[in-house]
Amino acid sequence: KANPNQPIYDLHNQAARIYHTVLTSTEAGEQARDYLYSRGITDAIIERFSIGLSLTDQDFLYQSVSQKFEESVLTNSGLITFAENRIFDSFRGRIMFPLKNEDGQVIAFSGRVWQADDIANKTLAKYKNSTTTPIFNKSEALYNIDQAKQSIKKNQEVYLMEGFLDVIAAYENGMTNAVASMGTALTEGHIRQLRRFTKKFILVYDGDRAGQGAIYKALDMLAADEVEIVRIPDGLDPDEYNKTYPNSLGDLMTNSRIVPVEFLMDYLRPENLSNLQSQLAFIELLAPKISAVRSLTAQDAYIKRLVEILPDFEYNQVESAVNKRRDDVSVN
Ligand code: CTP
Ligand code: MN
Ligand code: MN
Ligand code: MN
Ligand code: MN
Repeated sequence: KANPNQPIYDLHNQAARIYHTVLTSTEAGEQARDYLYSRGITDAIIERFSIGLSLTDQDFLYQSVSQKFEESVLTNSGLITFAENRIFDSFRGRIMFPLKNEDGQVIAFSGRVWQADDIANKTLAKYKNSTTTPIFNKSEALYNIDQAKQSIKKNQEVYLMEGFLDVIAAYENGMTNAVASMGTALTEGHIRQLRRFTKKFILVYDGDRAGQGAIYKALDMLAADEVEIVRIPDGLDPDEYNKTYPNSLGDLMTNSRIVPVEFLMDYLRPENLSNLQSQLAFIELLAPKISAVRSLTAQDAYIKRLVEILPDFEYNQVESAVNKRRDDVSVN
């Protein structure tokens, strides 16, 4: 039986083709292409990720599709806004990143400001995302899942990133198994989808505070999965790192991974570890994480690392805190 939402998919696919043509084949697209080139986005990437451009005109998309789709489809798609006395395109003057489902159907867009005036205009969001529609829920969508799916299965691991440009930077470095959530935090919906392909998650979030906080939250949700973390140095995000250190993002993502305990040892470390109380609290926080690590050799290494930064505790004291957790676990 035909999918009742098929017309909304069709409209999205058609809109993506229109946006793409505007970017690649019109004079109006030239400056936007220059913006993308200045960010290292090549024509090949524009093709591969179906990147496009929405014009600043009030209703260019509406004029292009209104004959072919019923008004209810246009309304439900969220791509056209029907206000009291005018009809206008929801996305205007933005570089358009299509989001696709696993089957490669376009389900939504995210549009980035790119003109100097718009970038300077702080009342405009840097990225504007599609609203919720019958075919799109922002908290479940994964950018690039259509192209990454096979690679995730083959490599048996997935890179989780924050931004579209980060996924593209990874792709340029040969890492084809990367996806991004849409600026929302990681959700159970994202994780459920990805677990169908792999149980191993590599977090490659921005090197700023927000990104590190997002890693901490994600670790809780991924407690049952195998997780590794790639910390991007100097507060950069993966795309910025790629610009600063050309051709090394792939190496960083492959060879500079740490495990959650190592991340937590740094992230949860109190400012002041000079008094007994704060050292005890830190041990209590980390002991269960260390005891959860499967390899005893790794546990030993983490305990040693912890002891190094604790002025008042010896190896055997921290070890017994970890072992106590081990015993707790074995009772269950
Ligand atoms: N985002 C959003 N709305 C915003 C800002 C960000 O939806 N106003 C989402 C986008 O999906 C973006 C992601 O959050 O890719 C990460 O945000 P951020 O790190 O601020 O942007 P970058 O991905 O680094 O974007 P760019 O490199 O284009 O500046
Ligand atoms: Mn093309
Ligand atoms: Mn960020
Ligand atoms: Mn970023
Ligand atoms: Mn960025």
